[in-house]
Amino acid sequence: TADASAAADGFAPPPAAGSKQPFLIGVSGGTASGKTTVCDMIIQQLHDHRVVLVNQDSFYHGLTEEESERLQDYNFDHPDAFDTDRLLECMGKLKSGQSVNIPIYDFKNHRRCSESFRKVNASDVIILEGILVFHDQRVRDLMDMKIFVDTDADIRLARRIRRDTVERGRDVISVLEQYGRFVKPSFDDFVLPSKKYADVIIPRGGDNHVAIDLIVQHIRTKLGQHDLCKIYPNVFVVHTTFQV
Ligand code: ADP
Ligand code: C5P
Repeated sequence: TADASAAADGFAPPPAAGSKQPFLIGVSGGTASGKTTVCDMIIQQLHDHRVVLVNQDSFYHGLTEEESERLQDYNFDHPDAFDTDRLLECMGKLKSGQSVNIPIYDFKNHRRCSESFRKVNASDVIILEGILVFHDQRVRDLMDMKIFVDTDADIRLARRIRRDTVERGRDVISVLEQYGRFVKPSFDDFVLPSKKYADVIIPRGGDNHVAIDLIVQHIRTKLGQHDLCKIYPNVFVVHTTFQV
């Protein structure tokens, strides 16, 4: 997952007492389906709101020495690979308007950075993105909207090979072995079955501009923004007077 966290978290103050709860959107889908890309597009279009992106990847358990020595046997695609209690605690705080410190995960050495955190401030919209964000009912129950990004497996595998070799320091053989042994079986066992919880399924991910526009309109409506001028900044309303 590309880190789009800097997109909009800024250093905004918490919401004033009595203001609405943040709108929490869950974005799930298989590896390299375009989850982060879709989130970035939503964040860009909601530019006049405070929006934060939280990645489920940040909540991976760090590996023990023993697990690191047998890396090829570790399943990063199983729900147990994530510290879901910590994720739940952070999302609960964000939902109640508090800021949180989120762990920073390093995909190259499979560990959490022990000294630094990412401070995430209270926001109007919180987006939680990850392969298994719909797996745990307690996490699902916090969400106001659930989106599943649906992209063909061959396209995802091709993107994953490129990304993991270019950005995550892997070689092609290890990516293919991991994919066949863990990524694909866990997709079939855990990710795909969680698609049924989605409110919206986006075929083709970030290429689907119509779906993203509709989602952004819905979020704006839910945030109480019915102002046509904000939704359609380039549309002018012409008032005409008819005389009989
Ligand atoms: P995810 O968050 O689901 O793992 P990303 O959005 O990070 O997926 O995309 C995975 C990779 O595929 C990235 O390298 C990204 O640039 C690329 N990618 C995503 N969407 C598209 C697209 N519509 N067309 C081409 N490449 C894409
Ligand atoms: O960004 P994406 O959704 O693809 O991130 C999840 C994927 O990251 C999982 O499919 C998992 O196999 C992979 N992963 C990895 N190494 C880690 C942690 C996660 O290959 N240390």
